[in-house]
Amino acid sequence: MPEVEVRLGARSYRIHVGEGTLGKLGQALQGLAQQVVLLSNPTVLALYGQEVLRSLQEAGLSCQVVLVPDGEQYKTLLWAEFVHGQMLQGRADRATVLIALGGGVVGDLGGFVASTYMRGIRYVQVPTTLLAQVDSSVGGKTGVNHPLGKNMIGTFWQPALVWIDPLTLRSLPRRQLLAGLAECIKYGVIRDREFFDYLREHRDEVLALKGPALEHVIMRSCQLKAQVVEADEREAGLRAILNFGHTIGHAIETLTGYVEYLHGEAVAMGMCKEAELAASLGLLQRQELKALKDLVAAYGLQTELPRGLRAQQLLGAMEVDKKALGGQLRMVLPQEIGSVQLRPVKPQELLQVLPP
Ligand SMILES: NC(=O)c1ccc[n+]([C@@H]2O[C@H](COP(=O)([O-])OP(=O)(O)OC[C@H]3O[C@@H](n4cnc5c(N)ncnc54)[C@H](O)[C@@H]3O)[C@@H](O)[C@H]2O)c1
Ligand SMILES: [Zn+2]
Repeated sequence: MPEVEVRLGARSYRIHVGEGTLGKLGQALQGLAQQVVLLSNPTVLALYGQEVLRSLQEAGLSCQVVLVPDGEQYKTLLWAEFVHGQMLQGRADRATVLIALGGGVVGDLGGFVASTYMRGIRYVQVPTTLLAQVDSSVGGKTGVNHPLGKNMIGTFWQPALVWIDPLTLRSLPRRQLLAGLAECIKYGVIRDREFFDYLREHRDEVLALKGPALEHVIMRSCQLKAQVVEADEREAGLRAILNFGHTIGHAIETLTGYVEYLHGEAVAMGMCKEAELAASLGLLQRQELKALKDLVAAYGLQTELPRGLRAQQLLGAMEVDKKALGGQLRMVLPQEIGSVQLRPVKPQELLQVLPP
């Protein structure tokens, strides 16, 4: 069975990818847990609850189900406290293992709850969206939103296991699938030209969710993210390269109120624009920029900024990222497909490529 190992000393764990393995979760947890809390939302529970619960039962695990409503707006401290409360009432203890079954919202909330419940218990990620399978379930960033900012409250807390069944993507809305693929393209651009080419050459199979191609895309994405996390668990340096496309992507999300575009859709536009900046600075060849835009378009994602967004608005929205970095805006810029550099960027340089 294909696996990726995330090597972080005592905090190491396996990422397991396999079609049809959802029903084997219980088996995988034998030895790790006796008592589990299954955190999910009603949408995902309706689709996969039965299969997961049966497998937990067959493995002899006692299980408490805790549900939070479906939506990013429930990724908050208030709902974390609700989950804590349910677990206290259900007598979860320090040996209990929390299972986060769902997309990135359930995963981030579940990780946060696990990291704070009785000063930290183990948890297992069972991601069911592509974004969660290739990104949010790996790397141990947990968090909730605050009225003053997304993901502003959180912890670094690595899971004990990541259990991925690509068959769950069959029920995922197409738009969510494509948005997740934006992050896969990102991994190719920042670390792995061959993977970038693979995504181009196998597009039809990937989009048709064909087993081997889809599994490879998930595995390779997890591997690439794991390498970066291993080198820099707490984002002191290298991990920042995962933010390629995200400086402008976040600005787009902020300016459109987080309702118009999915995260991956905004990142796709952000990657194209940031690569354009790299080209205008002479770092990236024009044909490489074209290769990126072509691949983004081939996966049905938008390459151009939303109409109506102005340079000054975008710069303003990027101020937040700038402040977080202590004054100077630093961006991840590709120098070729497969390799990036972190470089300070001046507003005048950005203005060259933003709409007036
Ligand atoms: N921790 C990290 O490193 C990290 C990285 C990237 C993103 N994130 C976070 O991830 C979140 C976004 O995650 P997401 O894109 O998975 O969104 P999500 O969790 O909201 O899931 C999207 C929708 O799909 C539904 N769904 C989930 N699995 C399904 C399936 N198999 N079939 C049908 N429907 C399904 C969900 O119920 C939801 O309605 C954001 O909160 C973001 O901040 C975290
Ligand atoms: Zn992202």
